[in-house]
Amino acid sequence: MKTFSIINKKGGVGKTTITVNLAYALAKSCDLRVLVIDNDDQGNDSQFFQSEEGLTLADILVGKAGIRDAVQHTRYDGIDLVASSSALLDANVAVIKDEDIVQHTILRESLAQVEEAYDVCLIDNPPTINASVINALVASDDVIIVTTPDIYGIRGVSQMVEYIEAIRKYNPYLRYRGCLINKFSSTPHGFRCLYMLEKVTPVFRTRIRYTKDKLEASAEERRSIYEYSPNCGFARDLVRFLEELLKGE
Ligand SMILES: Nc1ncnc2c1ncn2[C@@H]1O[C@H](COP(=O)(O)OP(=O)(O)OP(=O)(O)O)[C@@H](O)[C@H]1O
Ligand SMILES: [Mg+2]
Repeated sequence: MKTFSIINKKGGVGKTTITVNLAYALAKSCDLRVLVIDNDDQGNDSQFFQSEEGLTLADILVGKAGIRDAVQHTRYDGIDLVASSSALLDANVAVIKDEDIVQHTILRESLAQVEEAYDVCLIDNPPTINASVINALVASDDVIIVTTPDIYGIRGVSQMVEYIEAIRKYNPYLRYRGCLINKFSSTPHGFRCLYMLEKVTPVFRTRIRYTKDKLEASAEERRSIYEYSPNCGFARDLVRFLEELLKGE
């Protein structure tokens, strides 16, 4: 199993939209067995996959449940989910307070137990850095920063790269794959931001276009973009991104 963290402490850049649709593309087009970990107390991946009540990531982090008991099948063949809820907030605090556990390897040890059951694990992270995000990075092989092309986004990326470097103390094999630009528009401003970003970090060649209405509607209906509007800019760019990502393996 190969584990990817999708990350940025900046909110609303498209981490969840990219995670759920990437999961769909990996399962349906590449015929891979995918596990999605919803590592955000907002629970947006869980809402998208219409998760059932039951054990969640919070229970795994505080040692109340094993990962096998928390995994649920989704309506999509080939995509399983570890759901999240607001309990993840308390779990983050509990993990830090508990001096008896090694705080940053809980998720890595849990994922090791389902290593053979999946080909790919995608961890969608919240717009912050907390104990469960550190767990995600320690458990990951690769990390991808998603950002939007604007000045605050660019500043935040440099900081994220520093965090990733710091995590190498616990996970020396963590591979930073680069920064994926989402909500890109081919305007002078868009290209100026791209130029600035390329100065501070590796940037994926594929940029994901701004594709507002189609994404809102597909999320509202809880359908992947490939079911809702397979030819829209976002859907096509994400496939190109996936090809670029897999080529770099
Ligand atoms: N390429 C795009 N073009 C236009 N809108 C987009 C694009 N990607 C995502 N969005 C929209 O941006 C909003 C935020 O997306 P999303 O929830 O995926 O971001 P996020 O980074 O996961 O947010 P958070 O940090 O709160 O978890 C959503 O309304 C989504 O439909
Ligand atoms: Mg999100």
